[in-house]
Parts: sequence; structure tokens; C-alpha cells
Amino acid sequence: MASVTVVFSLSDPTRSSIAPRRGSKTPDARGGGVTASGASARPERLNRLPGRFCSVRFDRPPSAAVPPAADHRFRTGQGPGPVRGPDRSGVRVQNRPVASEGTPAARTGRTAPLAAAPRRPGGRPLGAVTRGTTGPNRLRRVDRWLAGPQAWRLRSAGDPLVVDLGYGACPVTTVELLDRLGAVRPDVQVVGIEIDRSRVEAARGLAREGLSFRHGGFELPLPEGRRPVLVRAFNVLRQYPERDVVPSWDVVRSRLAPGGLFLDGTCDELGRLSAWVAVAEDGPLSLTLSVRLADLGRPSRVAERLPKVLIHRNVPGEPVHALLRELDTAWERNAGLTAFGARQRWIAGVRSLRESGVPVLAEPSRWRLGELTLPWSAVAP
Ligand SMILES: C[S@@+](CC[C@H](N)C(=O)[O-])C[C@H]1O[C@@H](n2cnc3c(N)ncnc32)[C@H](O)[C@@H]1O
Repeated sequence: MASVTVVFSLSDPTRSSIAPRRGSKTPDARGGGVTASGASARPERLNRLPGRFCSVRFDRPPSAAVPPAADHRFRTGQGPGPVRGPDRSGVRVQNRPVASEGTPAARTGRTAPLAAAPRRPGGRPLGAVTRGTTGPNRLRRVDRWLAGPQAWRLRSAGDPLVVDLGYGACPVTTVELLDRLGAVRPDVQVVGIEIDRSRVEAARGLAREGLSFRHGGFELPLPEGRRPVLVRAFNVLRQYPERDVVPSWDVVRSRLAPGGLFLDGTCDELGRLSAWVAVAEDGPLSLTLSVRLADLGRPSRVAERLPKVLIHRNVPGEPVHALLRELDTAWERNAGLTAFGARQRWIAGVRSLRESGVPVLAEPSRWRLGELTLPWSAVAP
């Protein structure tokens, strides 16, 4: 069995903007993914970010580390997007939540009776090890949402406990989450939970006041039965079969504190295209799209980064497909505003969507960030 070494530079692990040391190997020139040979960030950022945060080294090439897959759905290359880290996802398929065909909750916004199965003492975590791709500042858009319109949840929480579920090969985004939410609530405690034990061991050196790491899965093994007010799982379910999504939601939402929220989201390597479903205790609440407007092209580009529950639904007849078409049309119709900036064009487009009856949530102050939030009922498959 190949072993994995994660090397952390502790030069300043508390900084929220962290990039590779200049000159470190960046196999993906566009950056953003922690790779088998080093962490990378988008090139233009390298000039203004401090030293390398962490890098991952493998003593054998990833291909040699992948034994025959136990489950074809988790084999190398099955998931979308380029493989930045090793795909060891065939190594251990661990006690996945019971798969159910059809997703009534996804359609109705109401979930079936909870499928939550507490992890037995010594039992295996719920879920499967997947690729560990991550990158500094990649999750800024969702963090901004958590620290913005959703900040009230953390502020009013009896226990300011937040989970970063599936932080990947390097916990850079977990550290960033702590920094960002610390501005909302200084006594926040962020727990990074990862199903790959070696990634947990590697991260432990970064534990400090307010930041810890645990081995586990969707069951969220937290001490003393504590319940998190926020759970962020980004680019985790994306690598699972669609039918596993809602059962996984069910397990996580059953662990939430009252008023808690679980975010199941996806983004591109650089965090420029991002989308997430917010799931509360009694089911999915909303879908948020968040895109970098400067070089958007057209809004439906975000389709490639829809959460797993929707990504296969961008086809005629599905609400999310209709929404993206309408968004593109509104964007085109407001092309004349480009002279005033992409932001004005987006705001006008979202406003016209709202005027045409699309139940857009939130206010222009959020739209100007390239955000669009809709109730789940508007896009549920
Ligand atoms: C692609 S990485 C995402 C890293 C980071 N969240 C990001 O978006 O940059 C996905 C990580 O989730 C982990 N993972 C997958 N299923 C999990 C589960 N059920 N519980 C905890 N971690 C899980 C994988 O082992 C992998 O390290």
C-alpha cells in the first residue's frame, strides 16, 4: 500500500489567502488544486500571497496506489473534473449510506424519514474516500455567504460549532473557514472531518484553539453528541452517485443543531463558478449560484458546477434547465449594459428574472456579487 505524506508549512497557517511558494511545481498552470507534487494557486495570485501552506507528496505514483476498485462508481476518473490529487477512491468504499433510487426529497423539498444511522463505536464512517483536490481561497464564495446573509445562524447558535466535511488532501479551506467565521463569532469552533484517515493525521499538526480535525463521514462523529450549526461539504458529493445524495443529506441534517444548515456544493478549481444547495433540518431550502462576473461568458456556464443532485438535470423539461436558459436570455438582453460593467449587466438580468416571476431571493446587494439564490422549490428536479 502506498503511503501519503502531507507536508505543511507552518509559516502562517492562519492566513486566509494562502498560496504555494513561488517556484513550487504547479502541474496545473491554472492552479487551484493540491496535487501529488505540490499546492498550486492561480498564477496572478502568487505575487500577493504568503508562502506555501501545504503540499502533498506520494512515495509512489497515484496510479500504483490504486488497487482494483471495489465499486466501479468510485474508480479513478469516474468523477467530473481533472484529477489533481490521487484518486484512491477505489481503495475503500466505506459503509456508504443506503442508496435509494429516486429522490423524493429532491423533488418535493421534503425528505423521507431520516436514514440517519449513528456510527457504532468502532464502526466505519459513512461515505467513501474520494479525490482530495482542493486549493487556497477556492471556497471564498460560499464562505462569504455563510459570513453574510447566513451569519445570523452562527451568531445565535448556543454552541458555535461548524464542520468542514471532506476537506481534502490539505485543510487549507478549513483554516480559511475558521478565519472567515471568526469574524462573525470569535468563539467559533471549526472541526474538519475527513474520511481519509491519512489526511486527518496529516492535518492534526494544524490543530489549535478553535480548529480540530477528526476522522469520520456523513455521520459527523462529534464529541459529547454536539450538533453543528453549519456543515460545509464542498466538492464531496460531487464524486458520489446521484442516488446517494439525498440519503447523505438525510444523515447530515439529522445531526444539525436547531436552526442549522448543511451546504452541499461544488465549484471549479479556482472558485470562480460555484453552486450550493442549503439543506436545513427538515429538507432542502435553497439553491445559490455564485459566479465571477468579469469573464463569465454566459451564466449557464455554471451548469458544469451544479451540485450532484442537479447536474444531470440540466436537460429540457427540468426546472434548473429552464432557469439557466432564462438567465442566459436575461444576460443577453442586457448586453448593452456591458459598458457599465458586468456587475450592472448581471443585476439587471436578475432583476428582470424577478420581474418575470422567478422567485429570486435576497437583495441587489447580493446580486452584485454575482450571486443568485432561489428557493429549492423553484429548481427541485
Ligand atoms: C475533492 S475533495 C474537496 C476538498 C475541499 N472541500 C474543497 O472543496 O476544496 C473531497 C474530499 O472529501 C472526502 N470525503 C468524501 N466523502 C466523505 C465523507 N462521507 N465524509 C468525509 N469526507 C469525505 C474525500 O476523501 C476528499 O478528501
